[in-house]
Amino acid sequence: MASRYPEVYDAWKNDPFGFWRQAAAELDWIKTGDEVFDPKMDQYGRWFPDWECNTCYNCLDRHVERDRPGQPALIYDSPITGKKAVYTYAQLLNRVQAMAAVLQDHGISKGDRVIIYMPMIPEAAMAMLACARLGAIHSVVFGGFAANELATRIDDAQPKAIIAASCGIEPGRVISYKPLIDQAIEQSQHKPDACFVIQREQQKAEMLDGRDHDMGALMDDALSQGRKIPCMPVKATDPLYILYTSGTTGQPKGVVRDNGGHMAALKWTMSNLYGIDPGEVFWAASDVGWVVGHSYIVYAPLLHGCTTVVFEGKPVGTPDAGVFWRVISEHNVVSLFTAPTAFRAIRKEDPEGTFIAKSDLSQFRSLFLAGERADPETVNWAADQLNVPIVDHWWQTETGWCIVGNPLGLGQLPVKPGSPTVPMPGYDVQIVDDGGQPLPADTLGNIVIKLPLPPGCLPTLWNADKRFFDAYLEEFPGYYKTSDAGIMDGDGYLSIMSRTDDIINVAGHRLSTGAMEEVLAQHRDVAECAVIGIADKLKGQLPCGFVVLKAGVNRDHAEIEAELIKLVRERIGPVAAFKIAITVDRLPKTRSGKILRGTMRQIADGESYRLPATIDDPAILDEISDALKTHGISAPSA
Ligand code: COA
Ligand code: AMP
Repeated sequence: MASRYPEVYDAWKNDPFGFWRQAAAELDWIKTGDEVFDPKMDQYGRWFPDWECNTCYNCLDRHVERDRPGQPALIYDSPITGKKAVYTYAQLLNRVQAMAAVLQDHGISKGDRVIIYMPMIPEAAMAMLACARLGAIHSVVFGGFAANELATRIDDAQPKAIIAASCGIEPGRVISYKPLIDQAIEQSQHKPDACFVIQREQQKAEMLDGRDHDMGALMDDALSQGRKIPCMPVKATDPLYILYTSGTTGQPKGVVRDNGGHMAALKWTMSNLYGIDPGEVFWAASDVGWVVGHSYIVYAPLLHGCTTVVFEGKPVGTPDAGVFWRVISEHNVVSLFTAPTAFRAIRKEDPEGTFIAKSDLSQFRSLFLAGERADPETVNWAADQLNVPIVDHWWQTETGWCIVGNPLGLGQLPVKPGSPTVPMPGYDVQIVDDGGQPLPADTLGNIVIKLPLPPGCLPTLWNADKRFFDAYLEEFPGYYKTSDAGIMDGDGYLSIMSRTDDIINVAGHRLSTGAMEEVLAQHRDVAECAVIGIADKLKGQLPCGFVVLKAGVNRDHAEIEAELIKLVRERIGPVAAFKIAITVDRLPKTRSGKILRGTMRQIADGESYRLPATIDDPAILDEISDALKTHGISAPSA
């Protein structure tokens, strides 16, 4: 059957406001307004300007009040601890109300910020929903970030409270969260009033008198008292959350998500893009610390009345490469959303798909991939093994949902390998040159999106309107700059080729090489440095740092390199996966002093490169090549 995509995309183009008004009608609003979009508000206009709503109400209460009180809302499956649990919509609502009661008792109310620093346990989702219920703004920080990163976020968001768990569990080690939080609060200028801790049995946290509270015990009290906390009406334009993402410097960007537009967009995607019906089980194997976790572990499945899966484990090693198939078959998952790197990891361990063959995947319908380039080799392997549509789709933390994808719900479009397919309604995607002029089909250029961005996309950065304007709107007036480069073919299919800034993508995690350079530069022996992302078969990219030592430093280079690796782990966190530091005598530069990072990356990846005309001293490129070889990184010369 032909896809309805062309007709739906045209319907949006012809009447964008009518399109989103209709999408919004799928939700419950406290107040609707005449206007769907106010072009004069804030940076580029705002969606649903006078409307009022509550996101938690739409995720939970309305399903309980209507038709789904006994349906599982959240399945917790934790192969790393051996625990499983199921919460119906009614049970999840009770627990969210209990958590909201605890927060309210401690003075948290509308507009207050709350940082959530938690592993993949159900309480992480409950904490997000409890904040949404109170109109408080949550900011989830991924557990793999170090105290220093947490401190930066505390200072920027100025939270009244932190909700945490006592520990996270990684294969082979338990990570105590509380000392990291204590260290972060000590380091930050802003001091939260309270810290609520879910005490996990694997490691209990030491509590500080006055400031720290046992969230589990307080929730139990609230539950036994049957505390009911009404949903706070908020404006559709009020922030639901702030999610920090890597920028080009060590200061992360606080992406703001509103309540109303976010709900309208996500609800639309569940049926039209993902092809999921209410009542079905949808699993995003990501982490609540990332945007995929916000949108597709917590908000979208619940808005749509689905069952979501909170998975605490890894694609391999917990206990083996069959865990994804076990979860899919045991919980009747119809659709999985993950990063290609997870599939590369599974394929490496189980190239023949032995575990897949052993599993009953009869109800499994589709696999969605995002977060990094889906290499055709991995996509083809997944397609051969699974025999379901494999859908690559492209999006960013900033947009909160898919920009370019293949809408299964509207009818799958023909797949072109290497392309995530076509723009979703809401997005007018164009390819332009550096001067902002449109480029012909099949020409590589900057990917930009014509303003306004659709509902759900960031309206601004937290407390940083100017930074938002400078980073996204200034360079191409009237357009949002994605900082991705790509090609659009004659059929409107887009291919994403690379970032145009110094962001790299490591195991589906977005990281800033600029932030790593800032850390390396703090080492007492380092005179200058450059960090690049080099190709890696498993993780897509890996950071690789080159340092030039200060004159007169005579210490063992290997020792300094080990210190640098430790420093990045301490300051940014294990998630940076920074394991390659290389000491060199000089860095290749242009005559005006710009470090030739692009050429260094080409050398490291064994790509052919053209000698930059402005290079100061071409001999340095051979030195880089030799240094890479010494460190076991193959670097054929050009
Ligand atoms: N808390 C603390 N540490 C964490 C962490 C967390 N929540 N998540 C990851 N880490 C640590 C890891 O233990 C690892 O530490 P190590 O250097 O001591 O081994 C380090 O951070 C790097 O983690 P990662 O890059 O995830 O590598 P990995 O070897 O643990 O796992 C994969 C590799 C491919 C299995 C894993 O990256 C994966 O499942 N990726 C899916 C990507 C994803 O979900 N992306 C989200 C967007 S869809
Ligand atoms: P994040 O904000 O962490 O979601 O990372 C967004 C960036 O990841 C994008 O700007 C792209 O560079 C990259 N990315 C995400 N999805 C894809 C995809 N499907 N194909 C290629 N790159 C992707």
